[in-house]
Amino acid sequence: MLDLNDVCVTFYPNTSNERIALDHLSFHIDDGDFISVLGTNGAGKSTLLNAISGTLECDAGEIILDGQDITYAPEYKRARVIGRLFQDPMKGTAPHMTIEENLGLAYSRGKRTTLSKAIKKGDRKFFLEQLASLGLGLEERITTNVGLLSGGQRQALTLLMATIVTPKLLLLDEHTAALDPKTAKQVMDITERMVKEHHITTLMITHNMKQALEYGNKTIILNEGKIVKVLEGEERRQTSVDDLLNMYDFV
Ligand SMILES: Nc1ncnc2c1ncn2[C@@H]1O[C@H](COP(=O)(O)OP(=O)(O)O)[C@@H](O)[C@H]1O
Ligand SMILES: [Mg+2]
Repeated sequence: MLDLNDVCVTFYPNTSNERIALDHLSFHIDDGDFISVLGTNGAGKSTLLNAISGTLECDAGEIILDGQDITYAPEYKRARVIGRLFQDPMKGTAPHMTIEENLGLAYSRGKRTTLSKAIKKGDRKFFLEQLASLGLGLEERITTNVGLLSGGQRQALTLLMATIVTPKLLLLDEHTAALDPKTAKQVMDITERMVKEHHITTLMITHNMKQALEYGNKTIILNEGKIVKVLEGEERRQTSVDDLLNMYDFV
């Protein structure tokens, strides 16, 4: 599904500030994998997602998505098939547009049609159903400007926008870290449901070790731009948060 072959990213190369963010990183991700990504600050987690989404170009190596070499594909092209969420609920939605308009934009993504502000009747019905499925009452507020929503509501909406046209890949960069625990759990449960329902291959960065073990089918630990541990299957099931903390001590 996704292959990273020997991917390297270095910031400020050959200067005293040189930072190796991804160090010959290779990894294979299977179709439908939901992988949680752990690692200390500066381990290279966000850089990994930036390299995959095309926000930054790799210095070396290749990235193959679904059989296509996307190593040098521009970000806007990758965005048609890669959904992405960040920690900041303000990113990813247009605050001065309504819920419905935001969904309309997301829904037209990847389609070669001219943008039209008019939302078709059938589309509205579909949007209402999708919003209702979030269980946050947003279906009652489709003409509300997104800027007026709470952080959790915005993340849930961004998640819906990222998946309303099923992406090949979903990249989540600590997307619940800015939310209170109850809301974070709600957004995580919505995430899991969407990922399962549409069978979306997903990479999720988190600092929450419990969350990292609870959701998804694999966990990887990054350190200094390398994957130092892959947890899956029985080994992952037997791993506790304490075990993970001990692994951190090692790296
Ligand atoms: N835009 C950038 N310019 C310079 N250095 C960067 C940039 N982005 C990340 N880095 C450096 O690359 C390393 C990995 O960063 P990052 O991927 O953001 O780590 P993480 O998300 O795991 O906390 C760090 O040393 C960081 O300082
Ligand atoms: Mg980061």
